[in-house]
Amino acid sequence: MNILLIGSGGREHALAWKIAASAELAKLWCAPGNAGIAREAECIALDVADHAAVVAFCKANKVDLVVVGPEAPLAAGIVDDLAAAGIKAFGPSKAASQLESSKGFTKDLCKANNIPTAAYERFKDAAAAKAYVHAQGAPIVVKADGLAAGKGVVVAMTLAEADAALDALFSSAGAEAVIEEFMEGEEASFFVLCDGDHALPLATAQDHKRAFDGDKGPNTGGMGAYSPAPVMTDAMIARTMDEIIRPTLRAMKDKGMPYKGVLFAGLMITAEGPKLIEYNVRFGDPETQVLMMRMMSDLVPALMAAVDGELQHFDLRWYPQSALTVVMAAKGYPGDYIKGSVISGLDEAGSLEGVEIFHAGTKSDGARILANGGRVLNVTAIGDNVGQAQQRAYQAVDRIQWPEGFCRRDIGWQAIKREHG
Ligand code: AMP
Ligand code: GLY
Repeated sequence: MNILLIGSGGREHALAWKIAASAELAKLWCAPGNAGIAREAECIALDVADHAAVVAFCKANKVDLVVVGPEAPLAAGIVDDLAAAGIKAFGPSKAASQLESSKGFTKDLCKANNIPTAAYERFKDAAAAKAYVHAQGAPIVVKADGLAAGKGVVVAMTLAEADAALDALFSSAGAEAVIEEFMEGEEASFFVLCDGDHALPLATAQDHKRAFDGDKGPNTGGMGAYSPAPVMTDAMIARTMDEIIRPTLRAMKDKGMPYKGVLFAGLMITAEGPKLIEYNVRFGDPETQVLMMRMMSDLVPALMAAVDGELQHFDLRWYPQSALTVVMAAKGYPGDYIKGSVISGLDEAGSLEGVEIFHAGTKSDGARILANGGRVLNVTAIGDNVGQAQQRAYQAVDRIQWPEGFCRRDIGWQAIKREHG
């Protein structure tokens, strides 16, 4: 089978690594890819925003399946355009991608189907927003509307913090605020493969969104992750499927926009049970890196079963071990950072037992590997428990020479605390 993978991050490197190991694979391309992905796939300079060019490439190269990594091409309708040209693509349609691209769409769907999530209201001016916040009381959550990549969220523990967040938000013209009820609990990332009708749960994971140790500092795209997430017990998974995932799939089908692809539910596990924080219509990054390390089965037939509507009788097997990934980022991330610094020691680090190094933002310069993004490397390890996976991952981190980079030293702390009882 010929496969084209779209994307350039650590998520796509992990997917490329797993797809490259498939018994079904003849040839793998990645557009645009990165220096690590180039070891698993032929990286090509294809403009993925030009859907006609992607269709032409697929026809010329007899591509049997396109796997879309990031959300932007999905929201732009790449799966619809490929399907119209008779090319199979893994991922939701443009309409179904609204589960990520439109908070209002998802909140309305939750309300209409009794799916547990935080109550919310939207506001176009600061005075009305503040009046609402003061009537509700703190803690309360203030979000900028639109795709703010997690950076527009303030969890205000006091009314003064909420007021300050609203002042900052409304200082830019045309701003809209979403005020949400504060949900207290532990967060988990839950992934299901969907074929329009059926959902197959994947392994569970937890990520660390804050930039610095002790879960301090600004929110990022994710500084590390581990799988499984101890908070997602079998009972909690069953409740999530019954109360959140299945009602969502039913509702999407009823709306005439059946959901196919991977659905990523960001959950808050509260005292009352699982509640939805938000949906993403793609694999998580860096959660995918730990999921792919633990997946025993071939990924490609599972992706095909999702596309073909055949998940009902499908099953996947997982290694029982734990996996953990540490994100190495350019100093300054998630703010300003420099590109082009030299990274060495990757082969020595990657040769450690149970370790895989996925590239998130790199490019090659002859034999040298250069940093080429904010999140740059995902140093990933498998172990008998989260503690051993963590130890292996940091041993590998310590073999990498990259003075311009940094990482958190405490990825997995919640799970390791539980392991120690
Ligand atoms: P989001 O960009 O909506 O995923 O939010 C980023 C982070 O803010 C989440 O991962 C949570 O840690 C936190 N958060 C968002 N919404 C809520 C909420 N309603 N209650 C508590 N924490 C929240
Ligand atoms: N790690 C969170 C995300 O992929 O959005």
